[in-house]
Order: sequence, then structure tokens, then C-alpha cells
Amino acid sequence: MTTETSPAQSAKGQAPAAPAAPVAASDVVPYAHTRLPDTERELLREVLYEVGTDPEQKFILGRRTAELERRLADRADVRDVVACASGTGALTLALRAIGVVPGDEVIVPAFGAEPLAATVLGVGAVPVFADVDPVTMVLDPVDAESRVTDRTRAVVPAHTFTTMADMPAIRSFARRRGIAVVEDAAVGQGATLGGRAAGAWGDVGLYSFFPVKPFGMPGEGAVVLTDDAELAARVRRLRNHGQDGVQRFVHHEVGFNSRFDEVMAGFQLGRLERADAMITRRAAVAGHYNARFAALRGRGLLAPTGGADGQCHYVYAVQTICRDALATHLAAHGIGSRVYYPVPLPRLAAFAAYAGQGADGRRPGAELASARHLALPLNLNLTDSQVERTADVVCAFFD
Ligand SMILES: Cc1ncc(COP(=O)(O)O)c(C=O)c1O
Repeated sequence: MTTETSPAQSAKGQAPAAPAAPVAASDVVPYAHTRLPDTERELLREVLYEVGTDPEQKFILGRRTAELERRLADRADVRDVVACASGTGALTLALRAIGVVPGDEVIVPAFGAEPLAATVLGVGAVPVFADVDPVTMVLDPVDAESRVTDRTRAVVPAHTFTTMADMPAIRSFARRRGIAVVEDAAVGQGATLGGRAAGAWGDVGLYSFFPVKPFGMPGEGAVVLTDDAELAARVRRLRNHGQDGVQRFVHHEVGFNSRFDEVMAGFQLGRLERADAMITRRAAVAGHYNARFAALRGRGLLAPTGGADGQCHYVYAVQTICRDALATHLAAHGIGSRVYYPVPLPRLAAFAAYAGQGADGRRPGAELASARHLALPLNLNLTDSQVERTADVVCAFFD
């Protein structure tokens, strides 16, 4: 991306004047819109009734959860999927299952979601923050590899916005250096890279079903994915207090309560056939934004590029050095936007002790990503005209 400012941009760098007239309600485009569609409200009601009146009366980790696990394993073409209570729980289970112990180091992106680092600390290990690529805003494999030491146990790439993390490069250096890959695909369900599903590239991966995620649901939940049968068995044991599922109250190790709810399993199964259509719609919105914004590259707006391969459609974020002014301009026209991670993780008070000093503490890609990104509306409730209006208002800012 060019960081030069055009004259038009400099002028727009100041907060533009608000439009004279208030925005009509019909022109408002909210950033987030998690209203369950009517068909899904009906599905939720039906599943709730079915589970509640099922003679089995099994509400947690029952046959629906097992079926959801099997169906998701088929879809991602992995050997095993284990459902658990949240994406944060899935990260914790994955770290424990691959054998991360107190004192180990785990490499995580410096720009991203807080659980990436919090879960590492939660299992007693040390988060080592690697820089991200300033354009794609995902883990930079070269910087990540440069931070490997003989205490490094794993690297945790995360898919964040449109472009998936460079999984081939990350797998390749991890193999070479003898460390595990935990692929945080919390937001990447439905994406593929080189024909392989997001979540299936790591030794272990995960999807979150938090409501706003691509296959989010009206509740908390997630799954862990792996091709390694032993690892899957360990995740299964850890999610249920270290029990093996055969003999109750015999705890093989200290685990967690990270189980999955049958109502949510029934709900996810009931709309699994729609998952592809949901991703296709999100991809169409992102593709439309990409096409409209391609011409703005020379004017200071960097939008995601590339074809369908390796693209996630959870959050659509553009980058510009006029980010705050663009957000103000959008708000003045009734269009919501969001800054996800205004500060790189190692500069948050929570993780400052792990930020590193001197060259180790420098992460220019993460600083740029934090300062420049702005997410635009991308959700299943957007109409085509709302997408068009959002694109028009963004384009007008750079005119
Ligand atoms: C990349 C990433 N990893 C993990 C999580 C945690 O997932 P959950 O909210 O299901 O705990 C999130 C949540 O936003 C996330 O974005």
C-alpha cells in the first residue's frame, strides 16, 4: 500500500463536515447486525422443544454433539473434531493437548484477538509476540521464525480479516524447527487455501461459533479439529475434567469444563446445509467491496486483493492513514464501522511484561495495522443496496 497522501487525501485527513441533513433511518447501515433470521428463530424453538422433550434427557455432549462433530470433520476433511464451550476454551485445550507446559514459549501474532495471548498465559507458558504483515495483517512467517528459541513449543497463526495466514510457510518453518502449529481459525470457518480447509492446516485447529462468527450461533461454543487421533482423544478428555468418557469420576489429569450444549448442537446441525450459502453471501459482499475499492489504491485506500483462494469472510477491513477521518465520514452518513484492535497486543497493559525490548520489541507491521485498519459492515442481514451505499460513501471520501 502506498503511504503517500494525495492532495485530496490531505484535505480529507481533517474530519469532514457532517452532512447538513440528518441521515434518514432507511439509509442507516449498522456495523453489526446479529438478528436471527425468522427461519432460524423457528429452528431454535423446534430444537429446544425436541431436546427438552427427548426421552434421553441428555443436555450436554449427547448424540447431537457427536453427530455435529462427525459432520464437521467430513466437511473440513480432518480425522476428528471435538466440540467445546468456546473458541477461548478451544485454544486452551489445543495448547494443553499438544503438551505446552509452564515455562514453554508460544509464538502468537502481535496484532489480533486477546485470547491468542491470554490462553498461553493461562496454561503457564510465555507468549512471544511476532510481527504481522502490514498489508494482510496476519502473522509474518519470517519474523515468527526469527523468534523461535529452544523453549518454543508452538506457533499460533490466526486468520484475522480477509487474507488467511500463510499456512504453507508457517507449517514449513514449524516442521523445520520442530514446533507444533495451533491454527486459530476461530473466524475462518468456510475458507480454504489450496483446497485445504481453514482449521485443517495446523497440527490442531479451531472454529468459534460465537454469534457474530461466520457460522456463529445464538450461544457460546467452538470446535477443535485435528488429524491426530491421540491429540483428539486428549482434547476430549481435557474438555470434561480429565475423564475418559468411559469411567465416570476417574480423572486422568486436571482438565476443564469446556463441554458442548445439545440445543446448540441440534441448532447447528439443523442449518449445516446452509453454511456454504452463508459463506457465499459474505464472499459476494466482500467481492463487491473489493471491486469498488480497487481503483482507490492510488488514492490511499488499501483493500484486500486476490481471488477466492485463502480468503475468510468474517471481518472486511480496509486500511488508510486517514482511518479516523474515514470512520467519522461514514458515521456522518449513518454507516457503522469498527476498529478491532486499536493497540497491538504487546502494548496492552495485560501483556506489557512480554513485549520485549529493543529490536525484539519492534513490530512495525502490527503498529501500522492497528493505526490504519477500519472494518466495514459485513453480515448476513445487509441488503445489496446497503452494500452499495457503503461502497459509495467510502468512494466519495477519496474523491
Ligand atoms: C482469532 C480469535 N481467536 C479466538 C477467539 C475466542 O473465541 P470465543 O469468543 O469463542 O471464545 C476469538 C474471538 O473473537 C478470535 O477472534
